[in-house]
Amino acid sequence: MRKVTINTLMAWKKEGRKFASLTAYDASFAKLFEAAEVPVLLVGDSLGMVLQGKDDTLDVSVDDIAYHTRSVRAGSQHTLLMADMPFMSYATPEQACANAAVLMRAGANMVKLEGGSWLVDTVKMLTERAVPVCAHLGLTPQSVNIFGGYKVQGRDQDAAEQMVRDALLLQNAGAQIILLECVPRALAERITQALEVPVIGIGAGNATDGQILVMHDICGISANYIPSFSKNYLAQCGSMQGAVETYVAEVTQGIFPGADHGFD
Ligand code: KIV
Repeated sequence: MRKVTINTLMAWKKEGRKFASLTAYDASFAKLFEAAEVPVLLVGDSLGMVLQGKDDTLDVSVDDIAYHTRSVRAGSQHTLLMADMPFMSYATPEQACANAAVLMRAGANMVKLEGGSWLVDTVKMLTERAVPVCAHLGLTPQSVNIFGGYKVQGRDQDAAEQMVRDALLLQNAGAQIILLECVPRALAERITQALEVPVIGIGAGNATDGQILVMHDICGISANYIPSFSKNYLAQCGSMQGAVETYVAEVTQGIFPGADHGFD
């Protein structure tokens, strides 16, 4: 696979070419994912749930993400590698800079932060200091205790309008990717069309530029539960390689996510 950069994804958005993405936590799977032409990998703080067996992501540390980022980078030199900034590691712009530096030095190409307009100054500060940012909107799992559970976001008109405004503000502050999690498909489509930067969706319908899934979910082996918007490709294909190749093909061809893998 040729090296994937943000310019690759920007060009694909312009061409209308969809792309797949997966979470990854170690070198062996990262190597397999790169061989299957997955262009974007995320060391997600979902590792708190799928690797550490916790009920949420709040106990994940910057060191945890840095460790797994190093491992994933060792297995995949050509993917665009995003690393999650854990809970409270970006509470202030200064903290964000210090912690993002750790993740960039571990091999990340971009960091991902959860939140809306309150992050504008942080995104500006990071991007002005050469740290590319993906901003995560919608169901932001670090806010599970504010939301009172893992629930679809942006269903009422005010929340939907706020999410559109937040996405534009974050893009204008310098975010180079917006990730939408558990958002009604019409809202995700509206945001994708309104933005110049690529939008990656998870449980956000098939109109986004990219899709991402947690690798354990496509294998049907997540420690807690498998979300309804995911798909067990391992059961369908019988091998890990086949599962990933089929996922990539279905996303690229606009087959996944289908009608039963999203929300209205
Ligand atoms: O932590 C993670 O794996 C994520 C994805 C679900 C997008 O944020």
